[in-house]
Amino acid sequence: MTARTRKGSASDDFSFVLIGGTGDLAMRKILPALYAGHHDGTLGEHGRIVPVAQTALDQQGYIQWVNEHVKPLVAPASMDENAWASFLKRITYVALDASRADAFAVLRDVPGVLKAQRIFYLATGPSLFVPICEGLAAAGLTEGARVVLEKPLGHDLASSQAINDAVGAIFDEDQIYRIDHYLGKEAVQNMFALRFGNVLFEPLWRREWVESIQITVAEELGVERRGDFYDKTGALRDMVQNHLLQLLSIVAMEPPHSMDADAVRDEKLRVLRALKPLRDEDIRQNVVRGQYRAGVSGGAPVPGYVEEPGVSHDSATETFVALKVEIENWRWAGVPFFLRTGKRLAGRVAEIVVNFRPVPHSALGQMPLRAGSNRLTIRLQPNESVRLNALGKVPGLGMDLRGVYLDLAFDRFFAQNRMEAYQRLLLDVIAGRLALFVRRDEQEAAWRWVAPILEDWNRSLAAPKPYAAGTWGPAAASALLAREGTCWLEEES
Ligand code: BG6
Repeated sequence: MTARTRKGSASDDFSFVLIGGTGDLAMRKILPALYAGHHDGTLGEHGRIVPVAQTALDQQGYIQWVNEHVKPLVAPASMDENAWASFLKRITYVALDASRADAFAVLRDVPGVLKAQRIFYLATGPSLFVPICEGLAAAGLTEGARVVLEKPLGHDLASSQAINDAVGAIFDEDQIYRIDHYLGKEAVQNMFALRFGNVLFEPLWRREWVESIQITVAEELGVERRGDFYDKTGALRDMVQNHLLQLLSIVAMEPPHSMDADAVRDEKLRVLRALKPLRDEDIRQNVVRGQYRAGVSGGAPVPGYVEEPGVSHDSATETFVALKVEIENWRWAGVPFFLRTGKRLAGRVAEIVVNFRPVPHSALGQMPLRAGSNRLTIRLQPNESVRLNALGKVPGLGMDLRGVYLDLAFDRFFAQNRMEAYQRLLLDVIAGRLALFVRRDEQEAAWRWVAPILEDWNRSLAAPKPYAAGTWGPAAASALLAREGTCWLEEES
């Protein structure tokens, strides 16, 4: 084997059973992440990878599938033919029909599965989570094992509770790893360092000094090949209920007493439980639901959402959501948090913008119109960075003020390669680290909070507001902030 074992690596003796082993997620994210860990040594040397799927392939056929579909997705910088060959040797493919009650018994005969730390990664639709867990239990494979559940975990509060109840009857909560890959992003981790490793920001991180906070996760891509899935899901379930509310909870949480998994998750939960419930009139006023029409993206014409493959022609599914959220606690009462996400927007950017209040009195004469120069921007992607905007004096006579900034671009400070979110999270599962996974109560609190929005949209006949692909979403999203005397960062002059 070419792979070395590296500091921070996962425990060495594991069987990583990847259920849905020929699916899109396995191909695009999980197998490339496992290869990355194999290549850089963090995956250790001995753990086995056991992809499982219904596809009737033999071992050789599966390896050929991996070579054809996964290899081209590996970043060229980490493609090393020797490492790739030794990675393939770690794989044992098992074809089985998961709908059969006794389907999983065959896994008992796969070398290592009974002795090693078992991990079951359920890279399937949520409707299969319960039958798969029951099948694993019937095969006597669940004791001491860990199970990883992909999002979306259910469709609403009731369905996620039903899944959590059924999975919870088989696995204890500390065996369950609910994945939200945003929590594995380096910049999200860095938010803990920034907030709790510096004395500078924390005293200002509250209603007295913060005027508003924006969280944007914008995508340039459309729904790609996932039209069928997406049309039943929409942006609120796909992005807001999980990624955006998780980001919000990390931005707004109280300092945990340690980075212990439950210490962090307890504090996030407190934020989710303190979200101001939305009543019908709040939803009409403070939630914008949009859907993209044909437009131009990346310089080329692109179709509208309802023309995408797999999408119904009269679909009312939202591809954009912007909303104003408030947190009812002493730290944040009255501070608006503006959240926004969408597909086919004008750029791919994920960032958190903390707008500080203007000075209470200007001794320096007239301040520039937008004193939004008091601002901290945490950019998650692309090009992760932290930028602090402030006002400075233009050299010369008089007191002419202009915006200046301090820039902390991480790639200038740290030469190390960034670990992809999936790689970090998979290594955490293998090592038994739960801090970056969503606990049941957090997840249900998030569903509970979005429920009235889903219900209102179900009831209302109003269609989502159209926006042209390649723009920043419906005009109503700008109006939402304008009403509060502010604007989205990219609209600021
Ligand atoms: C996934 C959503 O969870 O996150 C996708 O299902 C979305 O629709 C993706 O495209 C965005 O993730 P990232 O890491 O590319 O920002």
